[in-house]
Amino acid sequence: MKGIILAGGMGTRLYPLTRATSKQLLPVYNKPLIYYPLSVLMLAGIREILVISTPADLPVMKGLLGDGAELGISLRYAVQEAPNGIADAFVIGRDFGEGQPVCLVLGDNVFHGQDLVERLERASGLEAGATVFAIQVSNPALYGIVSFDERRRPLRIEEKPRNSASHWAVTGLYFYDARVYDFARTLRPSARGELEITDLNNLYLARGELRVERLSRGAAWFDAGSSDSLLAAGNYVQVLETRQGVMVSCLEEIAYRKGFIDRAGLARLAAGIPNSGLRKYLQDLLAEESAMEGVPGDL
Ligand code: TTP
Repeated sequence: MKGIILAGGMGTRLYPLTRATSKQLLPVYNKPLIYYPLSVLMLAGIREILVISTPADLPVMKGLLGDGAELGISLRYAVQEAPNGIADAFVIGRDFGEGQPVCLVLGDNVFHGQDLVERLERASGLEAGATVFAIQVSNPALYGIVSFDERRRPLRIEEKPRNSASHWAVTGLYFYDARVYDFARTLRPSARGELEITDLNNLYLARGELRVERLSRGAAWFDAGSSDSLLAAGNYVQVLETRQGVMVSCLEEIAYRKGFIDRAGLARLAAGIPNSGLRKYLQDLLAEESAMEGVPGDL
């Protein structure tokens, strides 16, 4: 399975933070926001990834992430000329991904949770249909909301409903089979002029081919597109990292634990990092791994 990170958009709600830089490069505690969705793809075991962003921001993202070789992954880049909607990722990404299933993650989404890795790994085995992830929210009017029938099958997804009985929001993480590129071609812009991801999901739903994975109450999801949610995501990561002494979405660590790079590769990465908390963290990890030779670690 291949992966796409959609990291363009206008960032209107974060203005003036986004006046000179892209939303996805803003800090969530101690890392650029885009590290978090990238870590989700890596945790799912996806190594071939396309990053899509605006003409102005794409070169900066390339400068930040490079070709991915050091992390044992392959990163490619494509421009979205205008914010034509989330489903536009499959129009732009067609040459990159055609013929294979794909996972799309939004560049401003942060996920964390206990059984997330197993769920991601399972979803990345998808061959037919689509899987989306939903989570309970207190304010359904802000999200795409999925409702269920009495047998817990998805009934419909509504974009920002005014009065919804359901509180299950569809998050920015979607797995599709290889037909997604053809389905995306049939979409027409909505009233707000965008190719809507909800329309795409509803195409799968109408065929009875949409699975909705409900994230548990212990899972955390932030759509870090407003100043409040950006700060909340940062605070969440800060609390976890400082209390537990383990990093959330540390790309180098994930690359190592997933087996994308070996210990020598991790040591090279650590040596190339300026003297910082991250370097110390990776050095400690290497020392611990030497002491625990052969004992697999947790993700
Ligand atoms: P949104 O938060 O819906 O849009 P935005 O980033 O433009 O922000 P605002 O509403 O404040 O103007 O986008 C969700 C994610 O998808 C975000 O990472 C940006 C990305 N995106 C694109 O890359 N291209 C698009 O055309 C759209 C609509 C979103």
